[in-house]
Amino acid sequence: MAASPAPTNSVADDSDRRPSHLRVTNFESFMWGTIYYPEQGELATLDLDAQRMRAAGMNTVRMAEFAWDIMEPEEGRFDFSLFDEAIERLAAYGIKTILCTPTAAPPRWLTVKHPEILRVDDQGVVQVHGSRQHASTASDVFRQYSQRITRAMAEHFRDNPHVIGWQTDNEFNCHFSEDYSVGAEIAWGTYLEEKFAGDIDALNRAWGTAFWAQTYPRFADVPLPVRARPTHLNPAHHLDYFRFISWSVARFQRDQVEILRATQPNWWITHNGIFDLIDYRGSFGQDLDVLGYDAYPMFTWDHRQRAADQARKFDEARAWTGNFIVPEFQSGPGGQTNYLHDNPEPGELRNMYYAALARGADGILLFRWRSVRFGAEEYWGGVLDHDNVPRRRYDEVAQVGAEFARVGPALLGTHVAIDVAVAATDFDNTNGHAALHFGLPAPDKVAAELHGHFWRAGYQVGVVHPSDVLDGLKLYIIPHLALLDPAWVPRLEAWVRDGGMLVIGSRSGTKDLDNNVVTDLLPGVLRPLVGATVTEYGRQNTPELRPLKLTIGDQAVLSRDWYELLEPDPGTEVWSQWTTRYPAGSAAATLRRVGEGAVLYVGTYLNGDVGEALLPELAQLAGLNPALENTPTGVEVVRRESTDRTLWFVINHNEVPRTVNVPAGHDLVTDQSITGPLELPARGLAVIQTTRSPL
Ligand code: GAL
Repeated sequence: MAASPAPTNSVADDSDRRPSHLRVTNFESFMWGTIYYPEQGELATLDLDAQRMRAAGMNTVRMAEFAWDIMEPEEGRFDFSLFDEAIERLAAYGIKTILCTPTAAPPRWLTVKHPEILRVDDQGVVQVHGSRQHASTASDVFRQYSQRITRAMAEHFRDNPHVIGWQTDNEFNCHFSEDYSVGAEIAWGTYLEEKFAGDIDALNRAWGTAFWAQTYPRFADVPLPVRARPTHLNPAHHLDYFRFISWSVARFQRDQVEILRATQPNWWITHNGIFDLIDYRGSFGQDLDVLGYDAYPMFTWDHRQRAADQARKFDEARAWTGNFIVPEFQSGPGGQTNYLHDNPEPGELRNMYYAALARGADGILLFRWRSVRFGAEEYWGGVLDHDNVPRRRYDEVAQVGAEFARVGPALLGTHVAIDVAVAATDFDNTNGHAALHFGLPAPDKVAAELHGHFWRAGYQVGVVHPSDVLDGLKLYIIPHLALLDPAWVPRLEAWVRDGGMLVIGSRSGTKDLDNNVVTDLLPGVLRPLVGATVTEYGRQNTPELRPLKLTIGDQAVLSRDWYELLEPDPGTEVWSQWTTRYPAGSAAATLRRVGEGAVLYVGTYLNGDVGEALLPELAQLAGLNPALENTPTGVEVVRRESTDRTLWFVINHNEVPRTVNVPAGHDLVTDQSITGPLELPARGLAVIQTTRSPL
């Protein structure tokens, strides 16, 4: 079959670069391909590989992310011949290349010469050569070497028409995120001086250092907060350390981005996340043309949870900056030292690839083309096995490739349409919580649970950051964002006035952006919008032993983790009451009508039974309907749309057939018209295109 044309190497004018879940990418053709390793001996099979890739509809490979030692075998001596040859020969089959800066695996000559660049973990252990990600992105010495290899590669490949884009490094922070090396210590001082504009008193005030002898006379005296040594740390100090890690990774990446852009403005640039201690919404993500998210669904060990988990992960990926690509998508069972995944069953990964597209992916590369017989990942299943014989995984990939030739072009330019969202992916809240959490579940974890309820019930759910556009949403849930930025409030309020239903969970608005406690009446900056005050709060450590229940609809529901007693302002309704123990009779949730919409404040954690019981009530309050009526459980329905068309992704994750009522349209998967209910086989799917009439 003919492959779809390779993505162009020019970045169309991207006038709106603001991160938003609604932002579409500007690829002119759909990217479908694989990761390729000429340095692992793949030149020997390249022609056959390329023919098979073409036959599977592929148009792109990614290479070189770990090949620094091949391209610079000795300091200052560069040799790109292996990649020149691979790129050229693949291009003869219509396959274009994405190159990577190879800084995730610096060569041995470099770590011998500069052992001070090695990362140090939170136990003080220096990382050794022999694995990967062993060098500190904060180190100025390492930055210089990174710039040099990036410049050498950029200049060498500048005029190569087959190189269409770049990936920076590989999965920054994927193994661990913290860094306590010498380089990190120096960079930490620089970060703090910049952040506090050279004023050490400002740091002392912001962190509340008049506690346990923490007043610092100079920036150079501020230690890295090695986790809980000897005991509890200052949460403001700790949060700034987390921000510092994100800042220093973004700075390292920017070094590379600036070189690549200056050398060849036509290249587009991505990075493959998503990992801890990087604010992808901040400068890190804004420096990229498109964010990448690496998808490995088989890490969800319970196969019954895989589809829901993956859906949420795609939604979180989209929440950072908008539509994304999947630079690595699992193509076989993965195995490393101490684990081996379930073998993906027939159709299981195909469903996942479609779920990715449904939820915002605008391109997919598979990891990896073929299993390699050596190294830490010798049991990582590729599209092909070690023996290079195409079997059912290859057949499934080829089938997907043939389908994507129709689905891909229709997809580009569309965004995911949702009407309910949970707030998550806020760097400050995730990490402010990590710095001081009382053992409470993280806000993103509760958001994930809520997302799961809506996903299972068939609603068009997503993840949206509180500073993002809320247009189109009927219901928005902010679970427990303690560090509530006052700048978010006016837009939230305007959206509510226009008819939005806002739900806010306990502890929101209790801290300032330094991670110190506010002294305002709670919930702090949200109090005027909520129209109620939290007069008392408490941790529930043994909810089963001393149960606290609150009314939700006509049930009394067990709350866990946290409770608050509320006092409504005049005009605010009591929506729920505590029914047990000493709070019995006090308000547990309040509802305030504002303009066309309303704000529901719930004075407990939204996890467990509470979240489940809330779902039907919230759906009713917000006037929510599932994506399609009467969709069977385990069938995922997602819409992507643009001004002139809607694509309905209908994915049966069940191992048995299901019938779904779908709109009439054209199924791009089978290339046939659909007029009535759709019979989907076990793990079957459809992508139905319908026309939208112009407004
Ligand atoms: C990713 C990584 C790849 C490979 C893969 C399988 O996290 O980017 O290089 O290691 O996982 O483990």
